[in-house]
Amino acid sequence: KVYNDYFYDEPVYDLHDGGYVPLKVPDVPEKPLTIPSVLKPDKVDGNDVWYTIRAQAGETQILPGAKTKTWGYNASLLGQTVVLKDGIHYHVHIVNELPEVTTLHWHGLNVPGPVTDGGPHAPIYPGESRDIDFILNQPAQTDWIHPHPCPNTARQVWNGLAAAVVVTDDVESKLPFPRNYGVDDIPVILQDRSYHDNQLDYDADYDVDGTLGDTPLVNGTVNGVFKVTTQRVRLRILNGADRREYRLHFSDDHEFTQVGSDGGILPAPVKLTKLMLTCAERAEVIVDFGDHKPGDRVQLMSDDVPLMTFEIGKFEPDSTQLPDHLVDLADWEPTPGLPVEKTVMSGMDDEVRLDGKLFDMQRIDRKQKLGDVVDWDVTNTNDMGSGMIHPFHMHGCHFLVLSRNGKAPYPNEHGYKDVVGVNAGETVRIRVMFDVPGVFMYHCHILEHEDTGMMAQIEAYDPDHPQTFHLLSMDDV
Ligand code: C2O
Ligand code: CU
Repeated sequence: KVYNDYFYDEPVYDLHDGGYVPLKVPDVPEKPLTIPSVLKPDKVDGNDVWYTIRAQAGETQILPGAKTKTWGYNASLLGQTVVLKDGIHYHVHIVNELPEVTTLHWHGLNVPGPVTDGGPHAPIYPGESRDIDFILNQPAQTDWIHPHPCPNTARQVWNGLAAAVVVTDDVESKLPFPRNYGVDDIPVILQDRSYHDNQLDYDADYDVDGTLGDTPLVNGTVNGVFKVTTQRVRLRILNGADRREYRLHFSDDHEFTQVGSDGGILPAPVKLTKLMLTCAERAEVIVDFGDHKPGDRVQLMSDDVPLMTFEIGKFEPDSTQLPDHLVDLADWEPTPGLPVEKTVMSGMDDEVRLDGKLFDMQRIDRKQKLGDVVDWDVTNTNDMGSGMIHPFHMHGCHFLVLSRNGKAPYPNEHGYKDVVGVNAGETVRIRVMFDVPGVFMYHCHILEHEDTGMMAQIEAYDPDHPQTFHLLSMDDV
């Protein structure tokens, strides 16, 4: 079966919003799609690997003419891709070369909170650094790093800070997937920006309901072209936008197969011609260009706007078939005797709230015991006919999507996730388990909503090893 559906409710798609900024086809020449280079370790010693990540300011040739002042991780824009492997002990030296405080959040990594995780409690002041370490314990997936200082996440991401994280393991590496980075396995980081005389101006473009730009970028490239040299190409698509939802499809309605989402490989491949991603969601898809000939050009579109072009070159025929079954998911039975947790995302503009409240760095909003499997009902109270989607994200864990308003989740939501788009007027039931301790954020991933305070904190605790956490206040960041 091939699905030809975005699944999401049509009325909540953000182009109906009053402040919607449509994407436009940029009137600039094509150029090769930027493929971020892979971050090299400083040192490898057995099971231990050392990295340095520098948040830095620079200039990037995005449009013809003047370069754009941008921020990035070990790069002038976005950042080098961090490739990690399950089971390895990582030591990361994070340097802040920016003129203001930042943090480095590992979105999708289950590492202890609130400091290693890199949320608002882990500030790195300008000119300073922070050293963290963690032993990675999770399956192969596509994650990302981005800043998370409260309340400046949205602006810092807008300025350019975001990079792909590729997690590998011994299960995914045996599946018949393309995995030659940069050749048949590429990150596709979707963002939108507006330029003012080639410069960013976050304050000018700011929208409290989420900032949109009119220019589509993929990996920081406008009008990027990727030359296809293999029959099958794996795209690790990340919606890295502050606010925009993407409704993706190919210009020729070519079919593709989704094999992974936020938290790893799906239990079974899902064939699609359309894919909607809300903010911070990821999808790994495999596109088989076997029915195209050299010279063909296929565009990846969001609605009617091309985002980038795939130019088909010569390739060896590849008859690899994906198995019907990809990975086993753990069998999570809810821990007996625990009530369903309820959390409510409400409002739009500066009225947005999580459980009726604004974020407070010193308030722990709830607790969940490590290893407990708890069902949560996540409700978006916006009006079904005109309200917006709030993408709900949790740090420190992955979850399963059980149902949407009591109905089955979408066909491509059967794997682990860490972001779920909750339609207006909808309750999504998710099943949540923490296996690392800490204080973790959960929030709307429309970055301006998060910065307004649509965020709360949960303590994942181990009763045998109680911890006290030093919680900073907004004045510290
Ligand atoms: Cu992608 Cu709280 O973050
Ligand atoms: Cu929101």
